[in-house]
Amino acid sequence: MIQLQGISKVYQTGKVSFEALKGVDVTIHEGESVAITGPSGSGKSTLMHIIGLLDKPTQGTYHLDDKDVSQLKANQLAKIRNEKIGFVFQSFHLLSGARAWENVALPLIYGGVKGASRKERAIDSLKEVGLGPWALHKSNELSGGQMQRVAVARALVSKPRLLLADEPTGNLDSKTSAEILKLLDDQRADGTTLIIVTHDHEVADQCGRTIHLLDGRVV
Ligand SMILES: Nc1ncnc2c1ncn2[C@@H]1O[C@H](COP(=O)(O)OP(=O)(O)O)[C@@H](O)[C@H]1O
Ligand SMILES: [Mg+2]
Repeated sequence: MIQLQGISKVYQTGKVSFEALKGVDVTIHEGESVAITGPSGSGKSTLMHIIGLLDKPTQGTYHLDDKDVSQLKANQLAKIRNEKIGFVFQSFHLLSGARAWENVALPLIYGGVKGASRKERAIDSLKEVGLGPWALHKSNELSGGQMQRVAVARALVSKPRLLLADEPTGNLDSKTSAEILKLLDDQRADGTTLIIVTHDHEVADQCGRTIHLLDGRVV
């Protein structure tokens, strides 16, 4: 499903350039669950952003479902992202003034789904993560664990085949973390490809395979 060859990423800050990824080769098959681990600053989020088409590599090629997506334009990337990929982030990235269901419905707006069926699908997705009764609450009225459930519901609402989670349990206590991981693992059991960036060895152990990064290289 995912084939990265010779991927490098150089960040340019003024006159200073920094090579965050240095020739990374990664292959991930459909239905796999993969952990990306490594120390802070080793390039995990950079790699995740490239896999998720949120950023482009400086060099190298990326084939997603056998299509070369390395150099597509922003609108083409957005379309593929919307069709195929769901994201969960450490800091939830919810709109705090919006209701839970409105947050979940956002990807459907970009996907062109009509109003009434957006609400219905958002609420169905919230039910899937056990938050049906909270659909009308504003996200700033929810606990951290509930916010992350909303974020998972939002990631799942478009039924993506690829789910990317960047330190999804980094801000949660251990019990809540286990619940969120269970939700992600349920998706994997249904055939969704799952990639989790994590510091936590217990989380990595639950994945089928670990890709370890050090200074922008796979080791
Ligand atoms: N937008 C950016 N501009 C400049 N440097 C960046 C940017 N994003 C990340 N970096 C640098 O690239 C390196 C890898 O960052 P990142 O991929 O976020 O690492 P990790 O997620 O493993 O902590 C770090 O040294 C970081 O400071
Ligand atoms: Mg990171």
